[in-house]
Amino acid sequence: MITIENLSKSFESEGKKIWAVKNVNIHINKGEIFGIIGLSGAGKSTLIRCLNRLEEPTEGKITIDDVDITSLNKNELRKSRKDIGMIFQHFNLLSQKTVYENIAFPLELDGVNKDEINSKVNTLLDYVGLIDKKNAYPSSLSGGQKQRVAIARALANNPKVLLSDEATSALDPKTTKSILELLNKIRNEFGLTIVLITHQMEVVKDICDRVAIIENGEIIETNTNLELFRNPKTKTAKAFISGLKSNVEEESIVPDEFNGKVIRLSFLGNSAREPIVSRMIKQFNIEVNILSGNINELVSTCVGHLILELSGEDEEVKRAIDYLKNQNVNVEVI
Ligand SMILES: Nc1ncnc2c1ncn2[C@@H]1O[C@H](COP(=O)(O)OP(=O)(O)OP(=O)(O)O)[C@@H](O)[C@H]1O
Ligand SMILES: [Mg+2]
Repeated sequence: MITIENLSKSFESEGKKIWAVKNVNIHINKGEIFGIIGLSGAGKSTLIRCLNRLEEPTEGKITIDDVDITSLNKNELRKSRKDIGMIFQHFNLLSQKTVYENIAFPLELDGVNKDEINSKVNTLLDYVGLIDKKNAYPSSLSGGQKQRVAIARALANNPKVLLSDEATSALDPKTTKSILELLNKIRNEFGLTIVLITHQMEVVKDICDRVAIIENGEIIETNTNLELFRNPKTKTAKAFISGLKSNVEEESIVPDEFNGKVIRLSFLGNSAREPIVSRMIKQFNIEVNILSGNINELVSTCVGHLILELSGEDEEVKRAIDYLKNQNVNVEVI
């Protein structure tokens, strides 16, 4: 559905060239909710804004639904943009217009007749649960309601793709959940492809099918939601999962002094319910110290992580680790 090939974007700043996006390659399937996660300044907004050419790519090619977006002239781009809706962190509503008028706006620009606009806007208002706010102005709405208006407006032209630039970052956790549920419903009911950028792992966990991690403009890891939590490849992914801000803190889970081997276990759904650790303690002559643990509920299952310190004879510790590996648990020695 969306193919990003060798995409790079540079900015000139104070006579210096900054590469905000570097040689990015991503393929996104139709109907997929694809997350791009990264820290502030990683290049997320620049990358997503290249997809509808709000930013002009410096190098590379973007294809959306078989249309080479990068080669379109202005007129063609304006037409193609109807297929690409976008929502933003700060909603970007027109403050002088009512909720109804905000949603009607892209349809008016498109020359749609009044009756059709009326019917479409009412359907959308109903869909996002805001029919009673039809004549309200944005300033009287909550953040979640504003984002619902923005979503309705983004859907007005029946787009095939929805781009979301930190759409939930300004919302509290409960409102975030309700907006993510709405996005998921839109994907399921309209078959929309959603590209969502975020710095919140909760968002990825709750809604994304696959995710790419961006760091300094480069994609350093692409993974399914499940594999990202079960078996993250990069330190940055692990740091996001641990809810830690930096890799340095990730290391600090491990005590400065310890006697045995520190291991990280990742276990999925069913194996999370088995008393694997207690069986290991009974079977092997080792001491086990729990350093940290958590369980994350994903879209389809749950993934648990445990960081354990195992001490005892080297050979016995090794046998215990082999035992864990045979129990369908992912084991990594830290
Ligand atoms: N118009 C611009 N001119 C110069 N530099 C820019 C411009 N836009 C972005 N940059 C730089 O490009 C890099 C990536 O910025 P970008 O806004 O894409 O990051 P981000 O991941 O979206 O960050 P945040 O999470 O804070 O929104 C940053 O170093 C930023 O300063
Ligand atoms: Mg940004």
